[in-house]
Amino acid sequence: MNNDLKIVVVDHPLLQHKMSLLREKQTPVAMFRKLIREISLLLCYEVTRDLPLTTYAIETPVAPMDAPTLAGKKVCFVSILRAGNGLLDGMIDLIPGARVGHVGLYRDAETLQAVEYYYKVPQDIGERLTIVVDPMLATANSAVAAVQRLKDGGAKNMKFLSLLAAPEGVRAFNKAHPDVPLYTGALDSHLNEHGYIVPGLGDAGDRIFGTK
Ligand code: PRP
Ligand code: URA
Repeated sequence: MNNDLKIVVVDHPLLQHKMSLLREKQTPVAMFRKLIREISLLLCYEVTRDLPLTTYAIETPVAPMDAPTLAGKKVCFVSILRAGNGLLDGMIDLIPGARVGHVGLYRDAETLQAVEYYYKVPQDIGERLTIVVDPMLATANSAVAAVQRLKDGGAKNMKFLSLLAAPEGVRAFNKAHPDVPLYTGALDSHLNEHGYIVPGLGDAGDRIFGTK
C-alpha cells in the first residue's frame, strides 16, 4: 500500500528492539535519552554507508599499506531544534569532526505549519554532505521548510534522517524534495487528528527534555 513512498527504513533487529523500548509510555526521561542516543548511532551507521573513501600510506607494525580514510570535507549535521538535538549527540559520537548547523522550528499547534525562530549553519555548507536530523516526520511541514531553508542557504547534497515517519509526511516530503533521500527507523501507520504519528511515541521534544 505504501509502495509509492521513497524512504529507507533501517530494520536492524537491535534498532527495532530499542525503538520499542523508546515508544513505551512509561519509559522515563533518562532511559529515553539513553535509548535515543544508542539508536542514533545505528541510524548514523546506515545513513553514512555510502561516504566516499580514499587511501593514504601508513605502516603497520608488520608492513606498509594503503589504508582507507574518508575522502573530502567532513559531513555537516543539521539539527532541527529542539528535538533534533536528541539524535545529534550520538551522531557526533560517531563522527566527532562533523560540522553542525541548527534550524530552530516549532510546529504551530493549530495550523501545524512550521514557524522558524533560529538559523545558523557552516558557511561552506554547499561543499559538504549535509545530514538533517529530526526524530519525527509527521506532516513533514517542518522537514520541508527546513530543507528549503537550507537549499536557499546554499546546501546542495542533503539527506534527511528521522526516527519515525508517517506515510502522509513521506509522501509530502518526496513531492517537495525528490532530490533528498529519506531515512527512518520505522514507518508508522498514519497521523491522528492532531497531526501526531500513530502509534508513534508521543511528543519527542517533551520526552527528551522532560517538559511535560
Ligand atoms: C516536532 C518534531 C518535528 C515536528 C514534526 O517538533 O521534532 O520538528 O514536530 O512535525 P511535522 O512533520 O508535522 O512538522 P515540535 O514542533 O514539537 O518542536 P520541538 O522540537 O521544539 O518540541
Ligand atoms: N511531533 C512529535 O513530537 N510527535 C509527533 O507524533 C508528531 C510531531
